[in-house]
Amino acid sequence: MTRKKILITGGAGFIGGNFVKYMVKKYPNYDIYNLDLLTYAGDLTKHRDIETNENYHFIKADIADRDTINPLFEKEKFDYVVHFAAESHVDRSITEPGIFVKTNVLGTQVLLDAAKEINVSKFIHVSTDEVYGELDFDPTTFFTEETPLQPNSPYSASKASSDLLVRAYHETFGLPVNITRCSNNYGPYHFPEKLIPLTISRVLNDQKVPVYGDGKNIRDWLHVYDHCAAIDLVLHEGLNGEVYNVGGHNERTNLEVVKTIIKTLGKSEDLIEFVKDRPGHDKRYAIDPTKLEKLGWKPTYTFETGIAQTIQWYLDNKEWWEQIISGEYRNYFEKQYDI
Ligand code: NAD
Ligand code: DAU
Repeated sequence: MTRKKILITGGAGFIGGNFVKYMVKKYPNYDIYNLDLLTYAGDLTKHRDIETNENYHFIKADIADRDTINPLFEKEKFDYVVHFAAESHVDRSITEPGIFVKTNVLGTQVLLDAAKEINVSKFIHVSTDEVYGELDFDPTTFFTEETPLQPNSPYSASKASSDLLVRAYHETFGLPVNITRCSNNYGPYHFPEKLIPLTISRVLNDQKVPVYGDGKNIRDWLHVYDHCAAIDLVLHEGLNGEVYNVGGHNERTNLEVVKTIIKTLGKSEDLIEFVKDRPGHDKRYAIDPTKLEKLGWKPTYTFETGIAQTIQWYLDNKEWWEQIISGEYRNYFEKQYDI
């Protein structure tokens, strides 16, 4: 296999971080460049196991900073770009939407321009099922790649906007792109502001778990390792210009997820506290992954095997999440929750 240079943006975050590890280990003949601004959601301690590998490189930069991004692309002449960097938390987009537009929309456009100038062979834009809006509770309905975009939160609106720019750069300039739209991920290094790691870390500390509304909203959970394998496949086999949905048919209500974690950890359901609902809270997400399955992808985790692996990982890696929840995160939690 020929040597390739791959730029991975957001590789200090949750999914990008897992993908960086996956690529560094799987492709020793690829040079992996992890570009990340190291916002509150990014940390490099997760890469201690690979940071001395010859094929791993880190660049601290803001994707929205054209004066840094353009010369970097000119110098390195990346073959592929896999773009994860984003503001990713829906609740934060409700209190501070501006940074979502800057990073997710303008940042993506800066990368697209730079990628176009050096004629990259592939630009993968990692997007989300949230761009499709919400489904009702009819279990026979799913998001397909043809579902119209109807984002409901500032976060999903910013992701949908970036998706449209990526599509336009393919249609107008012939940039070889793919867009992947994945359902909710979980697994190692998930930042504890999100439902699953928030629940695990709080239950382990015997603290109340905030459940929005009645807890009946449904998410379709996918283990992050299965997402990484999907992106690898799309990078190498995806047809230019195509969108691929990623999901493994693991629908659960939020209450089911929280109760599963509490039960696995042997704690009491009295830890559950129903709190004020998220404004614009999407009812249900569910992915039809047929198109990606036809390309050759199949998830390896069920929700049961994946959540067991994840809970064990949080038990084994307390120092990682404890350093997060004892820092700036505390202020965030106090402002966000009234419990
Ligand atoms: P995350 O919040 O854990 O990580 C985001 C990373 O991007 C962080 O390392 C952060 O430092 C970096 N970043 C933020 N702004 C930046 C900027 N201006 N320049 C450079 N780096 C910057 O996010 P995640 O959950 O790993 O999500 C990664 C991508 O996958 C996002 O694009 C998200 O929309 C998408 N996605 C996430 C999920 C999910 O369940 N988490 C599901 C589907 C799609
Ligand atoms: O569907 C993919 C999306 O999944 C990604 O695009 C986003 O980046 C990612 O953050 C995630 O979005 P969600 O809003 O679905 O994830 P979150 O973990 O914030 O919430 C999951 C569900 O749990 C949702 O219905 C809201 C609920 N929830 C969340 C939190 C943080 C609670 O009930 N209590 C909470 O404290």
